[in-house]
Amino acid sequence: LGAAPAAQAQASYPSRTISIVVPFAAGGPTDTVTRLVAEVMARDLGQSVVVENVGGAGGTLGAARVAQARPDGYTLLLHHIGMGTTPTLYRRLPYDPVGGFEPIGLVTEVPMTVIARKDLPAANLAELVALVRKEKTGINYANAGIGAASHLCGLLLQKAIDAPMTTVPYRGTGPAMTDLIAGTVDVMCDQTTNTTSHIRAGAVKAYAVTTEQRLASLPEVPTSAEAGLRGLEVTIWHGLYAPKGTPAEIQARLSKALQAALRDERLVQRFADLGTEPVSQDRATPAAHKAFWEADIAKWRPVIQAAGQYAD
Ligand code: MLT
Repeated sequence: LGAAPAAQAQASYPSRTISIVVPFAAGGPTDTVTRLVAEVMARDLGQSVVVENVGGAGGTLGAARVAQARPDGYTLLLHHIGMGTTPTLYRRLPYDPVGGFEPIGLVTEVPMTVIARKDLPAANLAELVALVRKEKTGINYANAGIGAASHLCGLLLQKAIDAPMTTVPYRGTGPAMTDLIAGTVDVMCDQTTNTTSHIRAGAVKAYAVTTEQRLASLPEVPTSAEAGLRGLEVTIWHGLYAPKGTPAEIQARLSKALQAALRDERLVQRFADLGTEPVSQDRATPAAHKAFWEADIAKWRPVIQAAGQYAD
């Protein structure tokens, strides 16, 4: 008698192309990280790994796609801090934002930068604060929807400045960056994986990084604390997920492929060029990812509740 179909499927996994859903538009920071990881995971797994961009609703449309997919290891999600904030931000979702997934492992933690269109009349963060307090909703802030990293940073920024801006939502900060460079939107807070090259090219203005120390990749950009703004420290962690119910053997195989990717020298160099680095191997495991994720939900819940900004 042959092994049960499930056991056979696990033994031969992966036997066909794997899809990793990125819940934001192509060309943004989540897409950039995912494509670099997918390329190396494919080599380790001996199967092609394709990236599928499913943007919209602050990343919850893409997350829903994976939560509702067959738990067979062929549809995965690479998402970020939004998995820590959406359980609080959204009170009605078509999927369980925590129970719908199996965490496979953390991937990287990416700093953010507060940036603006290059001719915004504010030469530094103090002048930006003064401008936003004066113009208020006359200033347009780009983000990728409620649940995006750019949304969370915007929440912290508006709280620190103590003035509201007008939010302009995009399907990802890739497209938002195009408008910022064109000058049709004013301000954005986005991850260094998307902003470093544009800051270096002078295509946008950089006011601050959201880390406690300056970044080696952007040494001339002050930290938000140095630039005079408290409470604007946030780094965007990314993790890999499978749908709930994915067999443990497949989860373990995916964690092994993720760990191999995060050791790859070319990937490490590309991450460094983008202002970030892979997490250590011991964090690229289901247990470490699960513990970090639960703590992150608890960390942001009171911050979001205090801001009182929910999706519905
Ligand atoms: C993206 O990949 O577009 C960003 O992660 C969007 C965001 O979360 O700000």
